[in-house]
Amino acid sequence: MIAFSDGNIHDIDHFVRVWNYAKTIAELEQIDSETQCILEVAAITHDIACPLCREKYGNTNGKHQEEEGISLVKAFLSGTGMTEAQIDRVAFLVGHHHTFRDIDCLDWQILLEADYIANATENGYSKENIRNFIQRIMKTESGIRLAQSVFCL
Ligand SMILES: [Fe+2]
Repeated sequence: MIAFSDGNIHDIDHFVRVWNYAKTIAELEQIDSETQCILEVAAITHDIACPLCREKYGNTNGKHQEEEGISLVKAFLSGTGMTEAQIDRVAFLVGHHHTFRDIDCLDWQILLEADYIANATENGYSKENIRNFIQRIMKTESGIRLAQSVFCL
């Protein structure tokens, strides 16, 4: 993904940070190793459609990213040794990383929490926005504790 990012430091820094937050939350939540692996791959690749969306649509709108990301990440991961089922799950997560309703799995939940923490630090979200997100969207004890700690809440 670093090579794929073609020197875009912002993109590289972002996914490395999301990966770290996701990995940390997942380890603290003690999720199984298979789910941990899929989540980490999804965290690294979740914004794979950003370069294409900037070129095709002139922005990185969440819905376009989700739609374009599915086929991109499937092609990106083919031949890596991951099974079709694992790649499909990563593609599902990439395709839902801006969807905040009906979140029914821990890997999806953690990816959203990690991406939010990274975005909030990068874009300087207000304390009110962060408190709101913690209250309405965050579910994992570790994600909530991490966010409260990062943002001194
Ligand atoms: Fe992201």
